[in-house]
Amino acid sequence: MDQPFKAALAALRNNHQDAPKNLRAAFTSDPKRFQHFSASDGDLLLDWSKCAVDATTMALLEKLALSVDLEGRRAAMFAGERINVTEDRAVLHTALRNPRSEPVMLDGHDVTVDVHAVLDAMSAFAEDVRSGKAAGATGKKITDIVNIGIGGSDLGPAMATLALAPYHDGPRAHFVSNIDGAHIHDTLKGLDAGTTLFIIASKTFTTVETMTNAATARRWVEEKLGAKAVGSHFAAVSTALDKVAAFGIEPTRVFGFWDWVGGRYSLWSAIGLPIMIAIGPKNFREFLAGAHAMDRHFATAPLLNNIPVLMGLVGFWHRAVCNYPARAVIPYDQRLSRLPAYLQQLDMESNGKSVTLSGGGVVTPTGPLVWGEPGTNGQHAFFQLLHQGTDFIPVEFLAAAEGHEPDLKEHHDLLLANCLAQSEALMKGRTLEEARRQMLTKGIKPEEVDKIAPHRVFSGNRPSVTLLYRKLDPHMLGRLIALYEHRVFVEAQLFGINAFDQWGVELGKELATGLLPVVDGRENAARHDSSTAGLVEHIHRLRAP
Ligand code: F6P
Repeated sequence: MDQPFKAALAALRNNHQDAPKNLRAAFTSDPKRFQHFSASDGDLLLDWSKCAVDATTMALLEKLALSVDLEGRRAAMFAGERINVTEDRAVLHTALRNPRSEPVMLDGHDVTVDVHAVLDAMSAFAEDVRSGKAAGATGKKITDIVNIGIGGSDLGPAMATLALAPYHDGPRAHFVSNIDGAHIHDTLKGLDAGTTLFIIASKTFTTVETMTNAATARRWVEEKLGAKAVGSHFAAVSTALDKVAAFGIEPTRVFGFWDWVGGRYSLWSAIGLPIMIAIGPKNFREFLAGAHAMDRHFATAPLLNNIPVLMGLVGFWHRAVCNYPARAVIPYDQRLSRLPAYLQQLDMESNGKSVTLSGGGVVTPTGPLVWGEPGTNGQHAFFQLLHQGTDFIPVEFLAAAEGHEPDLKEHHDLLLANCLAQSEALMKGRTLEEARRQMLTKGIKPEEVDKIAPHRVFSGNRPSVTLLYRKLDPHMLGRLIALYEHRVFVEAQLFGINAFDQWGVELGKELATGLLPVVDGRENAARHDSSTAGLVEHIHRLRAP
């Protein structure tokens, strides 16, 4: 990394000593702390006032962003420059949500035209499936779709379909990803082949999990309905159209995308077909419009008023300056229960790197461990560690002001009260004196108070940010997901890494290929290390009749 970055980073590290250590005191001394450390874009608000930053921290973080030319890098991404340098590819998932009227040129060609041609074809197919026009081989309407894909070809559609359940008026959607036969077995168990449509989703159409599950699904359809039925029960989404043709799926049911769409950034493309069939093309286009609105905000808002930039800066502060190893994503929104899993791929596959764009070693820690569960469930599981554990783990709370169940408003009020209480508790904590006073007021004996009070102390000063939005509708979900994509991009620029490759998943895949003949008994394990060989031998022993 060059000199201006190093200087800005050193200044930030110095500021770490001075930034507020006592957040309660920071809120008392600045009654407008919330106004100073929150930003909004219409009905979406980010509050990071419960993080240990001050105005100087934010100014230094802005300086750091300028030192890596964040604005120039952002413009390069939107303009289709080949910023994925290790794969020599443009990164244009933003073009997938561009309106028809806005051209995006790549190698002299307007990709918006291709994007909308696929969207139109998907919409026509989705409508046909939803209306019953595209019926099964026996003439029955499709009641269930099964998406077979993994990673980016599964997590996004699965997360978004669940998130948008109130808008779901199409066939039921199921998602099979794991190569564990239990996944497809249990999914097919309740289904009628005559009313089931499989969507085989794979960017490369080579991924072993997806190809194995797809072959099993095809066998199931052939057994139940005969080989001729396959055409009416399969569709595919891929960039490898030749491989799809070889699998035998009719060309009219194949929806393409492009190498400039990364797998974990692909739910806006034809990979979103199961979402579109579930919620209908109109709602799907609202979802795209929401993402586009966030793209405009990211591209144009001043850095310190720009929600993805702010989340990236605060994320960098926590990871690279405060050295916190993880971040918890806690949606107080049950329908976002798959968001943490989706973000694990988006964030960790993008920013889990140790080598910079120029091939050198990174100079700061890079992407954190991302994990989470919905609130309030998490409160009754792992929040103990968030409040009193030895590590500080920044928390990202997400919550909607309004639910979709007006007749259950008391549930929503309790949900929000819990969300706010958790972030307040993390920030405020409870001193020994407060713990003692509380116990004495309850009439507990002083000896008992001496013994127990230390266990009832909360350090406080544990950082959290809150994303608050009006309602989780398709437009808002699009904005939220695009926000997270851009936040990952911002952090990657500060880490100096390429967020768009994923070489780290290759080695395990290669070794699995080599181990299959060992596991199934065709080869012996002698050339493997003694642990691997010992485990294989043990598998064989356990399997022996
Ligand atoms: O796990 C690696 C990966 O390449 C992901 O990046 C991708 O989303 C997933 O596998 C699935 O790949 P494909 O869509 O090509 O089947």
